[in-house]
Amino acid sequence: MALLKTNRPFLKLLPTGCRILSCCFSSRIIEQPPYWHKIFPDKRIRNFDEMPTVGPVIEEYKNFKIHESYQRWVKDVGHVVKELFPDGSCCVHVYYKDDFKTVYQNDGGHPLRKSHGIIAKYRQDRPLIYGNVGLGPGLGAEWAKLRKMIPSGVGGKYYLPFRYDLEGITNDFIELILSKLDKNGEVELLPLLFRWAFESIGFVVLNRHLGSLRFDGEEEVNNLIEAAHLTNEIVFLSNVCDFEKQYERLVPIQDYFASKVIQYVEDTINLHSYGPCIVTNLWEAGFDVKLIPILIMDLFQGAIATVPLTLTWALYHLSRCPGIQERAREELIERMPTKQSKYYKNIEGERRGELLLEPGHASPHVQAILRETLRLSPPIIGNGRVSQKDLVLGGYMVPAGTMIVLQIQAACMLEDYFERPSEFLPDRYIDRNKYHQVTGVNIPFGFGARFCIGQPFAHGQLILALSKILRNFEVSYDREEVGVINRLHNEPDRPVIFKMKPLKQ
Ligand code: HEM
Repeated sequence: MALLKTNRPFLKLLPTGCRILSCCFSSRIIEQPPYWHKIFPDKRIRNFDEMPTVGPVIEEYKNFKIHESYQRWVKDVGHVVKELFPDGSCCVHVYYKDDFKTVYQNDGGHPLRKSHGIIAKYRQDRPLIYGNVGLGPGLGAEWAKLRKMIPSGVGGKYYLPFRYDLEGITNDFIELILSKLDKNGEVELLPLLFRWAFESIGFVVLNRHLGSLRFDGEEEVNNLIEAAHLTNEIVFLSNVCDFEKQYERLVPIQDYFASKVIQYVEDTINLHSYGPCIVTNLWEAGFDVKLIPILIMDLFQGAIATVPLTLTWALYHLSRCPGIQERAREELIERMPTKQSKYYKNIEGERRGELLLEPGHASPHVQAILRETLRLSPPIIGNGRVSQKDLVLGGYMVPAGTMIVLQIQAACMLEDYFERPSEFLPDRYIDRNKYHQVTGVNIPFGFGARFCIGQPFAHGQLILALSKILRNFEVSYDREEVGVINRLHNEPDRPVIFKMKPLKQ
């Protein structure tokens, strides 16, 4: 293990993804023995067959509870766990920071991930429509070709000019919440958040409003959101069972999703009436017209569930910690004196001021709440890679070509890394010395060349929406406890009906 000393002043110059890197690589490195020497004092590297093994565990996948097994295995089975699948293949689950580092350091310029094979097949089966299997499913040069189309991700020129419109969309979302409150002042927020997320990513990619925030939502938008959810579930199940059956389910859903997104993209290119956006930028830059809709489909697919789920979990935790909610609100009132105050006006001229990890303009409590939510209840459990060379993980030799799951959420639940890990304590990110914690473990957006392409957009949207919601409503929840099901994403296992009391001013 390498102990880290970072040269903090330079951190501000690095893009967010690199700041995580700075936790792992630093100017002064003090070599430490690998952590697994404590587990195997003989220091002998074990071979792959000696690794503790579980499975197949298909029922846990089918009832969407596999995340519970992942969290249990590190306590009951081992610090590195091999999971067998029914077809005889396997994957390796790693839980320790040093193993994350080994995997990321060796994943090359074109990191391999295997999880979206069913989408790859769907697109490969339709070569006349798709010139590429897509960003999520793509491998090697095929993936790199798409990724290079927006090298800095949905950030910079693909995000900053849209922030004022995104705030307008968020204001419409607040109005929609008000109009949906029932006589008890309650509402199920998550379906509205999906619509807000759809409208927001739609604006950035197409520079047009899609009608998602009308009272009942545009029918087409509702269908597309449903198609995106079903696609996530199918991707999840197809990784472990019933590939053929899942493929049959996928075809009509993707036929619909793809046809609509292709139509959106063609309209934006042909009608020239909407204004600058990701699609027109890519078109004017001369990118292959067959590739643009594929990238846009993957951006819609990536954006619809992740940010809304994070916000739902944040509000759920906050509704149980009114004191923390109140402290955040006090900070927000300083920044936005009335409910009508603009959020972005406060940071005009500060191009990066709203980023989640950036101290400064955004309320420190809002930032800490989101960071803690992403630690305890991230939308995605971890990160997958296929090793491109033999690697020693946790003291075992793992051969090249093995699928590896970096269990980031489960690692964030280990006392080795976080004091009182199962508690929601945003204060750990306000006063970093208050509770013991290890940096570089809470990496919910992945890492390296393939880290989440939507990260800057997601950061901005999380802060904007949570700030606006807390500035407009006192949020509480007094129904039964909410559990988690995982269908690619960590979702609530029941409707989360929040009480949202509008603030007076
Ligand atoms: C809280 C919000 C989000 C979280 C926690 C999240 C997390 C992740 C993670 C862990 C990965 C895999 C990274 C890796 O392999 O290293 C990923 C990939 C991806 N994300 Fe996100 N994401 C979020 C929001 C978004 C948004 C808003 C978009 C679209 C604007 C998006 C689009 C994508 C795409 C297209 C990929 C595949 C990238 C590639 O393989 O090159 N994500 N995301």
